[in-house]
Amino acid sequence: MPGFALSTLFAVAIASKAFAQPDPADPTPLTDKQYAYPTGIPYQVDNVPNAIRGPQVGYNICNSTTQNQQSMCQTLMMNNIGDFCLWAPPQPNSTIGDTEQEEVAWCSKSGWGTRLIPAGVLTGVQVLKTSKYIQFAGFIDQTQVDLQAGDYGGELDPHGADLRGNPLGGLVYSNAFPSNNGNNNTFQQVMDWNSFIGGNQFCFTICDPSTSSADQSAYCQNTYDEIGCTYNMPNNAQNGTFEVCDADLKTPVGIYVTNGVTMTYTQPYTGVPSPPYTPVVPSSSNCVTYKSTDLYTGLPTPTGASTSTSTGSSGSSGTGTKSSSSAGATSTSNSAAAIGVSSVAGILGTLFAMAFLS
Ligand SMILES: *[C@@H]1O[C@H](CO)[C@@H](O)[C@H](O)[C@H]1NC(C)=O
Ligand SMILES: *[C@@H]1O[C@H](CO)[C@@H](O)[C@H](O)[C@H]1NC(C)=O
Ligand SMILES: *[C@@H]1O[C@H](CO)[C@@H](O)[C@H](O)[C@H]1NC(C)=O
Ligand SMILES: *[C@@H]1O[C@H](CO)[C@@H](O)[C@H](O)[C@H]1NC(C)=O
Repeated sequence: MPGFALSTLFAVAIASKAFAQPDPADPTPLTDKQYAYPTGIPYQVDNVPNAIRGPQVGYNICNSTTQNQQSMCQTLMMNNIGDFCLWAPPQPNSTIGDTEQEEVAWCSKSGWGTRLIPAGVLTGVQVLKTSKYIQFAGFIDQTQVDLQAGDYGGELDPHGADLRGNPLGGLVYSNAFPSNNGNNNTFQQVMDWNSFIGGNQFCFTICDPSTSSADQSAYCQNTYDEIGCTYNMPNNAQNGTFEVCDADLKTPVGIYVTNGVTMTYTQPYTGVPSPPYTPVVPSSSNCVTYKSTDLYTGLPTPTGASTSTSTGSSGSSGTGTKSSSSAGATSTSNSAAAIGVSSVAGILGTLFAMAFLS
C-alpha cells in the first residue's frame, strides 16, 4: 500500500526537528495555539483548508453529547491516576503508524465527552510526579482501544513534520500541576507533551506549562520517536500495580554520561537506532498504591474480541510480548535495563524492515 509506505517514510524522514517545517496553509505550530478551557476552545483547532496533511478528523469541543464510544473528541485530559486519557485510533484493528494523525481521546473516566477505556483494560499504571513534568506509564489491552494486536505502535506528540501535531489538532489539559494552585475545577493547557502506545504498553508525559520552554522541550522531547518509553520515559511500572510516586527528574532522552563526560546521542536519520547507553529510571519516593476497582468505575464492558494478543501479526519473532515493544514501558522488573539495547534495536530492525516491505 503506497499510502502506508509513504507515511512511514515521511515519519522516518521527519525524526529530526531540523526538518520540521510549518505548513504554509497554517504556519502556527500547534504548541503555540492556546485556548482557555473550556470556553475558549474552538470546534476544531486545525480547521485549515488546503493543508498538506489533514483535515483534522475530530473536534475539540467535547461534552455530554459527544460522550460515547464513537466519540471523535480530540481534547484529552491528564489529571490523575484515576482520571487520564490516551490517544488511540478511532477505528478497530488500526496501527498507530497508519493512523497517527487521527487518534482520538480514550479516557479512564467519564465526563470529558470522549470514548472510555473499557473496564479492566488498564492492568497497571504508574504516575511519577516531578518538579517539571508528570509521567504516566503502564499496561493496557490495546485491542480494546482499537489498536491491532501486536502493533508496536509509536509516538504521538504536538509537533510532527508540519508542526500541526499527531493527532492533528489534538489538545491536552490538566489540573495536576502545582501551578494550577490546587484547583481541581480549572484546567491548564499542556502545551508540550509526548506519548507512546503499542505492545500493550503506554507512556505519556505532560510538561508543566509554568516551566521554561527549554525545560518543556527537554522533558517532552519529540525527536527520539523510535526508541520508545524505555529511553524517552524510563519507568518501573509493574503490570498489576497502580501507584503514584514523587520522582526525581529524568535525564532527558539522548543525554548520558560516560567516563564523567556528558554526551548526546541523536537518533539517526535512517537505519536502526542503537543508543550507546542504558537509560536510568529516576528514583522515586512516597509511592501510594491503589486498587484499580477504586480508581476506574462506571466503564463499559470490554468487547469480546480481546483475546489473542500474545503474538504479533508479523513482528513477533524473537520478541517477547512484554518488554520488547517500541512503546516499551518496563515490564516485570524494576529497571529499564530489563529491556536491553540490543533487544530494542532488534525489534526496531524488524519494524523498519516491515515498513519498507509494505
Ligand atoms: C457539544 O459538542 C459538539 C461537538 O463538538 C458541538 O457541536 C456542540 O455545539 C456542543 N454542545 C454544546 C452545548 O456545547
Ligand atoms: C486486523 O488486521 C489484520 C491486518 O489487516 C488482519 O490480518 C486481522 O485479521 C485483523 N483482525 C481483526 C480482529 O479484524
Ligand atoms: C484534587 O484532586 C486530587 C486527586 O488528584 C485530590 O487528592 C485532592 O484532594 C483534590 N483537591 C480538592 C480540593 O478536591
Ligand atoms: C498484564 O497482565 C495481564 C494479566 O493481569 C495480562 O493479561 C497481560 O498480558 C499483561 N500485559 C503485559 C503487557 O504483559
